[in-house]
Amino acid sequence: MLFSVIRKGLFALDAERAHGLTIAALAGWARAGTPLAAVASPPDLATRVAGLDFANPVGLAAGVDKDARAIPAWHALGLGSVEVGTLTPLPQPGNPRPRIFRLPEDRAIINRLGFNNGGLATGLARVPKRRAGVLGINVGANKDAANRVADYVAGVRAAAPVADYVTINISSPNTPGLRDLQHGMALHELLSAASAARHHDAVRTPLFLKVAPDLDAATIEDIAAAVLTHGIDALIVSNTTVSRPGLASARARETGGLSGAPLAPLARQRLADFRAATQGRLPLISVGGIGSAEEAYARIRAGASLVQLYSALVYEGPGLPARIVRGLAELLRRDGFASVADAVGAG
Ligand code: FNR
Repeated sequence: MLFSVIRKGLFALDAERAHGLTIAALAGWARAGTPLAAVASPPDLATRVAGLDFANPVGLAAGVDKDARAIPAWHALGLGSVEVGTLTPLPQPGNPRPRIFRLPEDRAIINRLGFNNGGLATGLARVPKRRAGVLGINVGANKDAANRVADYVAGVRAAAPVADYVTINISSPNTPGLRDLQHGMALHELLSAASAARHHDAVRTPLFLKVAPDLDAATIEDIAAAVLTHGIDALIVSNTTVSRPGLASARARETGGLSGAPLAPLARQRLADFRAATQGRLPLISVGGIGSAEEAYARIRAGASLVQLYSALVYEGPGLPARIVRGLAELLRRDGFASVADAVGAG
C-alpha cells in the first residue's frame, strides 16, 4: 500500500517536519483543484447538528491544519467537517523544538506545541468562500495576553462571519494557566462575553466549547451548567490529556498533552460523563483515540453526534476518513438505524 511506503519516509523525519511536509503537500493538492478527486459520502450519513448540515459525522480535529492551509483537501478526503486552528489574535512561535513526539508502540503522540500559529488574520484570509463541507474555526488566547477573555472575544468576533462554527479552546495543556478558564466565575465571564461576540449582521454563528479530559466530577457538572446557561451549541470532548495511562514508549515521559489510542478510555468516560451531566440537551462531539469505524460508531452510540480525528491519521494515513465513513454506514445499516441521529445515545 502506498501510504506504508510514504509513512516509512515520514516516520524517519522529526515529527514536526513530517507534519509540515504533509500539510504542504495537501495545500498544493488543494490549489490544484481537489474537488475532482473528492470522496463522496453515503447519503444516509448526512446529519444535522447545531443547525449545520454535515455530509457525514467524521471531522478533522483542531491542530492538524492550524493555519487553514489545506481546507479543500481535507474535505476531498471524505471528512464531513474540518476544524482549523487553534488561531490566536497575534502570531506566536510556540514552545522550543522538539515539541511533538511519536509514541509508535502506543499508537500515540505527545505534543507541547503551545499554540504556534500565524495569527487570526492570516489564517482567516486563507478560508475559501466556497467549501465542500462544514468549516469550524478554533480560537485561543496568546500566551502573553494581558486579558485572555479579550483574546477569545477578538477571536470569536473575527471568525464568526467566516466560519460555519467557532470553537473556544480552553483545554490546551501547553499554555500555562489556560485551563483555569474551565472553572468557576472565569468560565461564566468567558462564555458570556464570547457568546455575545458571535453575532454578526443577523446571523448567530454556532459556538462550541472544547474541554480537557482531565476534569473532576464537580467541574464536569459546573461546565455542563455553564454551557447550557450561556447558549453554547455543542461541547467537544476532549483535548489531549496530561495523564500517562500505562505507556510503553521511550518518549512517555515527555512533557505535554497525550493523544491517540491510550486516550480512548478516558475520552469515552468523559463523553459518558458529559452526556449524563447535560442529559442529552446538548450535542457532544467525541475526540480522542478514534481510529476505526467501530470506535466512531461506539462513540455515537454512547452519545456523540459527531466525532473528530487527529492522531490516528498520522498512523493510518489519508485513506482513514473514507474507510471510517464507509464502515459507519455499514454498521448503521447492520443495526437497522435509518440515520446517524437515530443511533446517537442508543447505547
Ligand atoms: C492537538 N490538538 C489540538 N486541539 C486544539 O483544540 N487546538 C490545537 O491547536 C491542537 N493542536 C494539537 C497538536 C497536536 C500535535 C496534537 C496531537 C493534538 C488536540 C486534538 O485536536 C485532539 O483533541 C486530540 O489530539 C485527541 O484526539 P486524537 O489525536 O486522539 O484523535
